Amino acid sequence: MIARLRMAGVASPALDANVLIGHVLGITPEQVVLRSDAELGHEDLRAIEAAAQRRERREPVAYITGTKAFRRLDIAVNRDVLIPRPETELLVEVGLHLWDASPCARAVDIGTGSGAIALALADERPGRWVVGTDSSPAALQVAADNAQRLRLADRVKLCLTDGAAGVNLQDAVVFANLPYISSAELRTLQPEISRWEPRAAVIAGTDGLSVIRKVVAQAGRGKARAAAFEIGLGQAESMAALLIGAGFEQTAVHRDLAGHPRVVTGTRVS
Ligand SMILES: C[S@@+](CC[C@H](N)C(=O)[O-])C[C@H]1O[C@@H](n2cnc3c(N)ncnc32)[C@H](O)[C@@H]1O
Repeated sequence: MIARLRMAGVASPALDANVLIGHVLGITPEQVVLRSDAELGHEDLRAIEAAAQRRERREPVAYITGTKAFRRLDIAVNRDVLIPRPETELLVEVGLHLWDASPCARAVDIGTGSGAIALALADERPGRWVVGTDSSPAALQVAADNAQRLRLADRVKLCLTDGAAGVNLQDAVVFANLPYISSAELRTLQPEISRWEPRAAVIAGTDGLSVIRKVVAQAGRGKARAAAFEIGLGQAESMAALLIGAGFEQTAVHRDLAGHPRVVTGTRVS
């Protein structure tokens, strides 16, 4: 499988092969290395071949396995939702500091998708509750299923709306990983993203900020206490300016493990 995935342009063919084979056999990728092909039955071989063909078409591994690890949780995913990214764990980390500073505040995850952020917040802060919104009914169904399976549904309320329209944001802490790629950048993306992930979860107008702009304005008008937004390359200054313009008095930029500005926060001090 490794040679076939390499030929198809997959960036990490050996790792992906072991993850997919492990998924079919119900063992870890590390255990795959110790197994001999001779032990495989006809059904296993057929399922491994089907997974290989899907990955050759550049379908993301997480859509094939149906799951992605995020913080302490296994989040179920399908093509209706963006696959949660490791960078977004930083948004949770940074936002938790803001939330812990005002633990009675409501946390609102805008553009919740699979529910990854909202569910991680509820999981890591037992006793508090979270609102998650999305404009996609199909995405909200995935989030609701995840909330049920992870036994967090009693503390994660989901709402179908545009941004945070209709959600009470007074004194809330807002978390948002919204689409931030410009329409022109679409053709530069890996096929895993451009062919497979939902367009509305990835692309936001000509500068990548059309959805974020609307949500920052909602957070400002709604008098949210603090907000943490994930951003793309080159958007830190614009993001900070948007937050200041919406009435947040202090902003800070947080870098991801690769050193890129990845999360911008805004807080009210008065
Ligand atoms: C980049 S994905 C992030 C999903 C999830 N928060 C995560 O980090 O894995 C953006 C999400 O925002 C949603 N979205 C896009 N435009 C929106 C809008 N105007 N209002 C609410 N949600 C929106 C998309 O449906 C998608 O689920």
